[in-house]
Amino acid sequence: MRRRDFLLGSAAMAGVMGAASWGSARSTVQQLTIQTARFAFRERPTDGLVSLSPDAPPPVLYGTQGDPMHLRVVNGTEDYTAMHWHGLRIANAMDGVPYLTQMPIAGGESFEYDFTPPDAGTYWYHPHCMTMAQMAHGLTGVMVIREAEDPGFDSDQVINLRDFRLDGNGGFLPYYTARGAARSGTHGNVLTANWLQAPVYDHPAGGLVRLRVVNSDTTRIYKLHLRTGQARIIAWDGHPVEIDVPLPSVDEPLLIGPGQRVDFAVRMPASEGQTADLLAELPGQPTRTMAQLRSVGANQKRDLRDLKPLAANPVSRPDLSSAEMLDFVFGWTPEGGPPNDGYCGSLGYSFWSINRTPWAGDAAKGTGPLATLKRGKSYVLRLRNESPNLHPIHLHGLAFVPIRSNLRRLPPLVTDTMLLLKDEVAEIALVADNPGDWAFHCHVIEHQKTGLAGYIRVT
Ligand code: C2O
Ligand code: CU
Ligand code: CU
Repeated sequence: MRRRDFLLGSAAMAGVMGAASWGSARSTVQQLTIQTARFAFRERPTDGLVSLSPDAPPPVLYGTQGDPMHLRVVNGTEDYTAMHWHGLRIANAMDGVPYLTQMPIAGGESFEYDFTPPDAGTYWYHPHCMTMAQMAHGLTGVMVIREAEDPGFDSDQVINLRDFRLDGNGGFLPYYTARGAARSGTHGNVLTANWLQAPVYDHPAGGLVRLRVVNSDTTRIYKLHLRTGQARIIAWDGHPVEIDVPLPSVDEPLLIGPGQRVDFAVRMPASEGQTADLLAELPGQPTRTMAQLRSVGANQKRDLRDLKPLAANPVSRPDLSSAEMLDFVFGWTPEGGPPNDGYCGSLGYSFWSINRTPWAGDAAKGTGPLATLKRGKSYVLRLRNESPNLHPIHLHGLAFVPIRSNLRRLPPLVTDTMLLLKDEVAEIALVADNPGDWAFHCHVIEHQKTGLAGYIRVT
């Protein structure tokens, strides 16, 4: 594949307060307490954050492919909530979508999420009730599901990219605007990696690092590349990449929409103090350093070719010859009535729609599924963007493969989120192998919360 054809979508802190573990090794329950937090992004501390500890970002949660996880989410706030595990193909009842798969968790209540991740890779978690309010104030964290067999890296680095919208005193600016919600979303102004600005992480010189980059922002489509030639893309949206994907560059950065992830294998520079950098292109600004990996210690003399390919996850491959085609149109809403918000918050508007129907809110009664799929059958979903804005379209519970676009060649990479470009009509294929009602929405949260949402039923 020629480079120009290719446009993709175009520090562990477990054990800190709020993420306590107990119980026997076999069935450890990890308690996650949603609570208000305070943290200094710049000189002055910011109050009113939402995290899982009083003074730090939500921790990286670790699991192992095929091993049960027990996560007890305690709501230590006064708002309702529900936690979603983005990209994990687990039982519908554990998916964390209010009204669709569970009732919202009230303040002081808890919900136990028990599931077994079928796939290894880089995933993440975020609330799906009060979604915009809680995510914009910090509640987005990374999940690492380890391979049953160690793939042989010297170290691992998680980078959670997300922005905050702060004033000069460190206080929060309004976390959404009607103007933004009706266009590309309201962008933050403090860009962070793991809540830090351009953090530097030490890794063994000449060693092989697995760099897991997650875009957990509510709005921003990041344009990324690395400053080092010694790297390879090894996974996309959690799933191993089986084809040769060119490394992004300053001229052709990787587009990674809200909700998306990319894993790089990075060979650290040989001499101590040298860095490999994660860089972002921002409109009208010089290239921004998001994070740096710095070489320390003696040269490990590893080689990218030492790595064997990651084993594919057990995702069923769709049978295109028998697949039924279903159409979905993403655009403005013709109506624009006020949404019905239940307990999960509303932005007060309907701007967007799927198939010309705005999702009237999380608690919407009488809103049926956008489509009903038969369990075990293959489908092609034709996604048409009739708006000038980009939409990272995310489907819960099922993995899919992009197969065709009117604008570009799409690499056939297994994913859960398809970044739909302006005027794009893209086809994605899947096997409907996980029963339940699966949320299907734009991951620009202001779009999701103002109509660009719905669900697909698998029976
Ligand atoms: Cu990460 Cu319904 O979303
Ligand atoms: Cu999801
Ligand atoms: Cu959108």
